[in-house]
Amino acid sequence: MQRFAGRCAVVTGGASGIGLAAARKLAQEGARVAILDLKREAAESAAKELGGFAFEVDVSDAAAVERAMAGAAEQLGGLHLLFNNAGIGAVRTLHRYAPEDVDRLVRVNLIGAFNALRAAIPRMLAGGGGAIVNNASASASQPVRGESPYAAAKAGVIALTQSAALEYGPKIRVNCVSPGVIRTPMSEGLFRKPGDLDPVLAATPLGRTGTADEVADAVLFLLSEEARFITGQDLVIDGGLGLPGAGIDQTIRALLAKIERS
Ligand code: NAI
Repeated sequence: MQRFAGRCAVVTGGASGIGLAAARKLAQEGARVAILDLKREAAESAAKELGGFAFEVDVSDAAAVERAMAGAAEQLGGLHLLFNNAGIGAVRTLHRYAPEDVDRLVRVNLIGAFNALRAAIPRMLAGGGGAIVNNASASASQPVRGESPYAAAKAGVIALTQSAALEYGPKIRVNCVSPGVIRTPMSEGLFRKPGDLDPVLAATPLGRTGTADEVADAVLFLLSEEARFITGQDLVIDGGLGLPGAGIDQTIRALLAKIERS
């Protein structure tokens, strides 16, 4: 499929994990791709592989994002698609977060997403419009312990998505994805010790964790013309893990097993 032939795409955080998977798929489907990432060497090597462009930038720096987006749009010859994906995580109880750590988590995950939207949208409008996908997290709508600043920032990303969808339709569609447990360099720590993820697997209807490619497939759908009547939505990609979130599910599961045995 060449769903993105002639389209110009920017992927923030495209040097690794979900962003890299999406950048690869966009390039395979005909898009010209620019990667904006904090890690210069990784971004350059990804861009080389894709025949695209790399820009070293910290998304939390509004002026630097504006410069990088201007450079990307110029090199690409326009801007139609944005996967606003750069992010960082952390885990500890709320009162143990130092103020500067909270600041960094919010500045990268929320303000960073805002900065990229602010820099990309005028360029998309100038070219007739386009589509944007922001990367939120399942933690935004179903927060877990230890991620308070991250979850709050990602909840902000969903709100940003909805505001932007209202403001820029019909020219620009704006959606977000909320991945669950996806194996990438960011989440690698969860996968180190065999057995650690067993409760997650047991609570996930699809019985496994997800891959960066699986999130990227959903992102490409939302960026493509197939999603032309979808805007302002949050697509949860978690294998159904969020469904048993009411807490009572594990109790009923045990009860059901008992009833079905009798
Ligand atoms: P990753 O760590 O593999 O990739 C993140 C990329 O963002 C890296 O290339 C990194 O250099 C870049 N980045 C980090 N801070 C940056 C900054 N200030 N400026 C520019 N680039 C920066 O992680 P992964 O898992 O691919 O994460 C991508 C997005 O998906 C993040 O927004 C994350 O919060 C979100 N997500 C990931 C989940 C998972 O289970 N892996 C679950 C839910 C959401």
